[in-house]
Amino acid sequence: MLELKHIQKTYQGSAGKTEALRDATLRVKDGEFMAIMGKSGCGKSTLLNIIGCMDRYDGGEYRIDGSDTKDLKRKEQAVLRREKFGFVFQSFHLLPEYDVFHNVALPLKYKKIPKKKYRDIVLPLLEELGIAHLEKRMPGELSGGEQQRTAIARSLVNDPGVLLADEPTGNLDSENGETVIELLTTLQKRLCKTLILVTHDIKIASYADRIVEIRDGRVL
Ligand SMILES: Nc1ncnc2c1ncn2[C@@H]1O[C@H](COP(=O)(O)OP(=O)(O)OP(=O)(O)O)[C@@H](O)[C@H]1O
Ligand SMILES: [Mg+2]
Repeated sequence: MLELKHIQKTYQGSAGKTEALRDATLRVKDGEFMAIMGKSGCGKSTLLNIIGCMDRYDGGEYRIDGSDTKDLKRKEQAVLRREKFGFVFQSFHLLPEYDVFHNVALPLKYKKIPKKKYRDIVLPLLEELGIAHLEKRMPGELSGGEQQRTAIARSLVNDPGVLLADEPTGNLDSENGETVIELLTTLQKRLCKTLILVTHDIKIASYADRIVEIRDGRVL
């Protein structure tokens, strides 16, 4: 369970302060699929980054499975981020010098899983996402949809409880976008993951159990 109460976040930029989040109050149950919608600049990515412990907040309270995240040290925050959350981004964020297999396996390295176990963990995921035949391809040799399916496999390799997806279909045409959202929905249900997905597309959002709107840094 993720519980945010009155979360605030202000950025100090070169052009002054921006109040990205004014009052984000939100509760996400385990296994729930929630979509976040709202205009550009309303605070969606900021919220997702705070939920995923990628960024700090300035006010309010954020509890993960009952534990307050306020007093976490940098190292504890990094461990929590790695073990609890999987991330999928609009622009895929694959490493260009690694093939599909090694991109997906990368998080296992940080978890110090022995190399000889990689295949048993990675291959079933590649098969599930329909990209097992592409395991030796480099990211530059893949379509957008194939790159995003690789990124989804990577986000799942550590078996995180929560998947965070920031406009995962934003760089895909509608057909590839739908394939990706259908895969994400199927995996989320079958593996009982919590999924929080940011999108501008109401058709994509309609796959979710619940749609939450953000306006001017507030969760409506
Ligand atoms: N690092 C930063 N420094 C200063 N201001 C920032 C920074 N990141 C975001 N902002 C500002 O905070 C506000 C919220 O940004 P955020 O990226 O959360 O919006 P968003 O809802 O994800 O928008 P989009 O739909 O365009 O991705 C915006 O006004 C943005 O300009
Ligand atoms: Mg954004």
